[in-house]
Amino acid sequence: EKAGYDHFMLKEIHEQPTSLKAAIAGRLDELKGNVNIKEITLTEEQIRNIRHIVIIACGTSYHAGMMGRYVIEELTDLPVSIEIGSEFRYSHFPLDESTLVIAISQSGETADTLAAVKDAMRNGSHVIGITNVVGSTLSREANDIIYMLSGPEIGVAATKTFTAQVVVMYMIAIMLARARGSISIGKASKLIRAIKTLPQKSQLVLDMEAKIAETASLFSKSGCFFLVGRHLNFPVALEGALKIKEISYVMSEGFAAGELKHGPLALLTTGVPVIAIATESELYDKMVSNIREIKARDATVIAVASESNRSVEQVADLAIRVPDSCEYISPILSSIVLQLFAYYVALARGCPIDKPRNLAKSVTVE
Ligand code: M6R
Repeated sequence: EKAGYDHFMLKEIHEQPTSLKAAIAGRLDELKGNVNIKEITLTEEQIRNIRHIVIIACGTSYHAGMMGRYVIEELTDLPVSIEIGSEFRYSHFPLDESTLVIAISQSGETADTLAAVKDAMRNGSHVIGITNVVGSTLSREANDIIYMLSGPEIGVAATKTFTAQVVVMYMIAIMLARARGSISIGKASKLIRAIKTLPQKSQLVLDMEAKIAETASLFSKSGCFFLVGRHLNFPVALEGALKIKEISYVMSEGFAAGELKHGPLALLTTGVPVIAIATESELYDKMVSNIREIKARDATVIAVASESNRSVEQVADLAIRVPDSCEYISPILSSIVLQLFAYYVALARGCPIDKPRNLAKSVTVE
């Protein structure tokens, strides 16, 4: 049932070209610059009346939500908040009919996320749930439910469902933006075209598995990892760090690269491995300055960079490549690199990859 792979996690990482295809199938209309998510029952008028969006999730799903937040804010004129389920349920967050709540949960059974959903519905907010599990509690409780269609995910570490969640969030962002008239058909079509390249580009990342495994093996004995990124690559850094700590038990932390000088730089000394996500983006130059700050402390920088970037080695010690892509797509590709990196670090350390200690696939208790 592992289809020849040693672990479910590796199998599921490799399923991403297929799961990404499933997540977008039948939902993208490039010509009209439209996304059709039939599951969303809101009318255009209701969408125009939204004043605020709150995204609620835990763990990996929270990181996907963070990415969704950036993109919804960029494409629409709406303020977006993102909240951790366990915090949100005890907060005094103002909710009403003008708030759209998006709850993300792979399992659809995460107690804290479900409690937040109940709260939101009590206050009259419309709730869109995103889940992978048909018939899950979330699927029964939310007003609308969007399935990720990733197929079962057995490994405790979420992989293919993370990338599916991100792409679903992108599609929601485009749909909301088109309904509110905040982006042109041209811009929407361009983004849709980019999303359509994901299945093929994710395969290109998987084709580089041996190189990623080799890099991971160089660092598998490290006592810690830092991961840094900006904008969409900040949640990618957080997610990469979560994957490493979850399955290899190595202390790893993700940071917004601009935050390093506000504290974390004090931890950087000779040879500390720092994975810097430095793919093409508007903030690329800022990222390069951050890498220089890290190098000035003599830490070792592994850059995740775009294929055609031939200058990153001037600042980083080594580079792992992802196919050239726009700044919305490359973070998804980088997250696949980090999934493989985490997998190979854990493998070298002899960890029980599919069932890490102390963790369960779905957290049904508070
Ligand atoms: O089923 P959910 O998406 O609600 O689960 C949320 C987290 O428990 C989950 O993402 C967890 O962080 C994963 N094990 C991460 O790989």
